[in-house]
Amino acid sequence: MPVITNIADLKRIHERRVPRMFYDYAESGSWTEQTFRENTTDFEQIRLRQKVAVDMSGRSTAGKMIGQDVTMPVALAPVGLTGMQHADGEIKAARAAEAFGVPYTLSTMSINSIEDVAEATTKPFWFQLYTMNDTDYTSRLIQRAKDAGCSALVITLDLQLLGQRHKDLKNGLSAPPKLTARTIANLATKWAWGIEMLGAKRREFGNIVGHVDGIDDPASLGAWTAQQFDLTLDWSKISKLMEQWGGKVILKGILDPEDAKMAVKVGADAITVSNHGGRQLDGALSSIRMLTPILDAVGGDIEVHLDSGIRSGQDVLKALAMGANGTMIGRSYIYGLGAMGQKGVSTALEVIRKELDMTMALCGETNVANLGRHNLLIPQGFEGTWQD
Ligand code: GLV
Repeated sequence: MPVITNIADLKRIHERRVPRMFYDYAESGSWTEQTFRENTTDFEQIRLRQKVAVDMSGRSTAGKMIGQDVTMPVALAPVGLTGMQHADGEIKAARAAEAFGVPYTLSTMSINSIEDVAEATTKPFWFQLYTMNDTDYTSRLIQRAKDAGCSALVITLDLQLLGQRHKDLKNGLSAPPKLTARTIANLATKWAWGIEMLGAKRREFGNIVGHVDGIDDPASLGAWTAQQFDLTLDWSKISKLMEQWGGKVILKGILDPEDAKMAVKVGADAITVSNHGGRQLDGALSSIRMLTPILDAVGGDIEVHLDSGIRSGQDVLKALAMGANGTMIGRSYIYGLGAMGQKGVSTALEVIRKELDMTMALCGETNVANLGRHNLLIPQGFEGTWQD
């Protein structure tokens, strides 16, 4: 059993264990990957203020996200094709999140279906919605999430069309993988993944296959998004979806203060400041750089969560200390899942919790609720100065 001390350890095992096309899918940003890279390197620019001689006993990382108790303010983000990183990946990630006491978000583009995850868990999870041209299908998805008892609808706003990730095109990404000479050669080196996958509940997009007809290639994320995703999504449609859902709503993919104000106006419960892990608009600023302007515009009017670039508990602390009410992790738990299934997701969460807790202590704090800018050293001009 390897000794796992940080998220990078899980990433190395993930890369070894999982077929290239799925590792690359998780690890890619769009086009030049500038935004993907800066999501993590911008976190490194923020430094921490060390405080000593503070009673650091009785610490707590617990808090609330959209009114729900969490053992730390870190939710698992929706990630497409999670069930290709490990057999029954969505079920395993949801179970790990449930045991840990943090929210799990199931993607529309998951392999396990909404019903599969509901059956395999005992607490409500969040459901992430992509809006489709086929409004009946979208309505059915919303109804299925309600029937499954999901406790929040996460509407993704930054993917009406799919950003181009070069490797996915070159690898011929599909679920299940299409058997070409290249994929067979790669799969032959991933036998442990393959044996587990033979026993998986599903190997296709579980929320789609069997629920909708007339898709040319239901195995291809690219084909599905190009044919089905609603290019006309706007704020009035978002309001209608929120009405249809009738419960808690998180609007994900906000990177601009004016859009954040619109989210407040339509009455969302929270926003997720996110650039989709650098997978959509390459050249956009990192989420952590955009956090302050967004908080200046809407902080206090709506809950603000930070997504994209978090790879450690120190990153979580930086986001919270800057003023975010919560965070989301995507790749950090996917590395764990690909490396060692449910145990790997639990390990990723435990690594992050321990880092958050120790960092908090060494910053002289005992409760995440008390973190603030006084704990940080933020470089001058971190948000950048841009011409009007
Ligand atoms: C889907 O959400 C993706 O980023 O591929």
